Amino acid sequence: MMFLNSVQLLFAATATAVTASAIPQPLEAGAKTYNAGINLSITSAISNILTPSNFTEALGIEAGAQWLIKFYSPTCPYSKRLAPVWEEFAKTCGEDAVSKNIYIGEVDCKANGYLCQQNDISGYPTVLYFKDGQPIQEVINDRTFVEYDAFLKQLY
Ligand SMILES: *[C@@H]1O[C@H](CO)[C@@H](O)[C@H](O)[C@H]1NC(C)=O
Ligand SMILES: *[C@@H]1O[C@H](CO)[C@@H](O)[C@H](O)[C@H]1NC(C)=O
Repeated sequence: MMFLNSVQLLFAATATAVTASAIPQPLEAGAKTYNAGINLSITSAISNILTPSNFTEALGIEAGAQWLIKFYSPTCPYSKRLAPVWEEFAKTCGEDAVSKNIYIGEVDCKANGYLCQQNDISGYPTVLYFKDGQPIQEVINDRTFVEYDAFLKQLY
């Protein structure tokens, strides 16, 4: 089944209204894309790539929006080991999570060092839980699917 609903979002912080693209894009089954312009297109069934050009906007996509964000380095062995686990987590749990206003994302700290510095990332990978754009806590775990899933479910 294919969901092509796109939602028009306005950012209070920007002076001009941003409207969603009218052109539907083919999506993975179960994925919904929220096109909000300004380099922001959030998809429910993937780990959304965040960069300085859209990090703040993504975290404020809706009032009360919660994010689980993996900060990683593509060359770090622990990050490499987590990559398929995180991908599976986003694919399996992301759709339900979006219905609870929870989103999954990732920041490449090699490409975006300053953004990671701003979030006090001292080791890779680090998973942080954000609410309303604020870092709330680090998700300490064994970097397993089960533990991310458990953390997510207790937010429901
Ligand atoms: C979109 O992203 C690109 C590359 O990161 C950046 O150069 C550009 O300024 C961004 N556009 C907006 C509107 O933020
Ligand atoms: C954020 O911007 C980057 C380019 O800087 C882009 O690759 C990525 O898809 C954008 N993320 C979202 C959630 O729109």
